Amino acid sequence: MDCTFIVIGHRAKTTADFEFNDISGSGGSLDTIARCIATTFCLSNGLRKDARAFLILLGGKDAPKTIRICGSEIKGLNADERSIAGLIRAALKKKAKRDEWTKSTTGVYISKAGFEDVLRELSEEGVTFVHLRESGVDVREFEFPSHPCFILGDNTDLTEEEEGVLNAHPFLKVSVGPKSYHASHCITIVHNEMDRRCP
Ligand SMILES: C[S@@+](CC[C@H](N)C(=O)[O-])C[C@H]1O[C@@H](n2cnc3c(N)ncnc32)[C@H](O)[C@@H]1O
Repeated sequence: MDCTFIVIGHRAKTTADFEFNDISGSGGSLDTIARCIATTFCLSNGLRKDARAFLILLGGKDAPKTIRICGSEIKGLNADERSIAGLIRAALKKKAKRDEWTKSTTGVYISKAGFEDVLRELSEEGVTFVHLRESGVDVREFEFPSHPCFILGDNTDLTEEEEGVLNAHPFLKVSVGPKSYHASHCITIVHNEMDRRCP
């Protein structure tokens, strides 16, 4: 089953001038985004070719920017945060345009699109939006649609304004468990649940 994850990086840096040794601070919690990329794509012995990630970066003077990563194209993604931060930095050095995806490295693209633009584009593709929220329907009772697109906050939930943007589209609300988990852990749980249904 193919799947897409949208992660909103509320403070995530949109320029390449962050410190590799401080991706959490100077990168605006890019460590959280990097962990989400790792759990979206990395298995112990390979990559999930049927997964895609859209990382909405909202921090800094060049916001918004979105990085798109396609599992069907990427080669040799390393799960460590530092090398993923390198991929993000390489993408941020490219010229980002509003209505076009600029290729950075293999399978990694960047654009000036924001959350609303990304939802519009994916809605035209026919995905089913699934907002991951603590208060949603239990994932164990959830019948996964054919082309799910999961939406998560980074260290904080979607803002009221972002919820308003999402409300313009039909969407489902799903919970992965009774506690509030890290975004990257939610991605692992969703993958695990889908793997059990469609090994
Ligand atoms: C670290 S949490 C966000 C902060 C948390 N909701 C809070 O305010 O303490 C990151 C994201 O993971 C997702 N999330 C966390 N726990 C979840 C759960 N039990 N079920 C579904 N999604 C969850 C939500 O999308 C959330 O925005």
